[in-house]
Amino acid sequence: MDYLKIFSPATVANVSCGFDSLGFAVDEIGDTMTFIKTPQKGVEITNITGANLSYDVDKNAASAVVKKMLLDANADFGIQLTIHKGYSPGSGLGSSAASAAGAAFGTNQLLNHKYANLALTKFAMFGEEIACGSQIADNVAAAIYGGFVLIRSYEPLEIIKLPVPQELRLVAIRPQIEVRTEDARNVLPKEILLKDAITQWANVGGLISGLYSNDYNLISNSLVDIIVEPHRKKLIPFFDEVKNAAIQAGALGAGISGSGPTIFALCKGDKIARNVYNSIEKSYRNKGIDFELFTSKINQEGIKIL
Ligand code: HSE
Repeated sequence: MDYLKIFSPATVANVSCGFDSLGFAVDEIGDTMTFIKTPQKGVEITNITGANLSYDVDKNAASAVVKKMLLDANADFGIQLTIHKGYSPGSGLGSSAASAAGAAFGTNQLLNHKYANLALTKFAMFGEEIACGSQIADNVAAAIYGGFVLIRSYEPLEIIKLPVPQELRLVAIRPQIEVRTEDARNVLPKEILLKDAITQWANVGGLISGLYSNDYNLISNSLVDIIVEPHRKKLIPFFDEVKNAAIQAGALGAGISGSGPTIFALCKGDKIARNVYNSIEKSYRNKGIDFELFTSKINQEGIKIL
């Protein structure tokens, strides 16, 4: 294989209660990337569209991953890369992760599937570090594995793929402001109360149990974040209004997607998702901030070859 075109999906990390440890992949939006095998070694980005990102191989999350993998595999070829960003960085939908994970997946194809998904996730986490300073796995793992994932452990890395209830739908609103992941991490407290930790880990357990048992009530009761959301919502204008609008229209729950500013809502079925979409739309209209709104199924397959 000398040429490859892929789609790498956007992702929703944290899913309210699971900071840095839960994520899922989105069906509707993502990055399109191409990979061309070249006889000369090394990596080159030949085109980036859809966002203003660095062409410097060591500073771009995608090319940095390609370079690391080719070196690790001692490859006797190089790769030319193009990246079309389907949505902008700083949105909280795993933009750098889609590029980093797509880079790992695409390079692995040209390396004849040398690496398994866990290794690809580790390479992609390196790209996340380039982009936001931390080796976070929730977005990249969701893009690579598809569906819902749990980062059961970081050291050593262990990823559990979770089931996706059939009727689960996503509604997300992306206010056109940028929140840098690094900044959103800096507003978080270094220590939390034991009683808050108890509430939070009980909700993670409840959410995962709900996914396994298709129990939408349990999913709804568990989509609660008392640790991160109270600090980060201050960075997102009208967060409470949107969340209330979603819940009132029948959403199972709503919260901050990754590090924001995107706000996500999970719903049971298309009809409720439509109501939630309309209700959120109404709540953000006339607020003076441009926004994009979309609904999506949960992406079950992750990155795919086009
Ligand atoms: N779990 C990470 C965070 C995702 O919330 O900071 C970064 O997009």
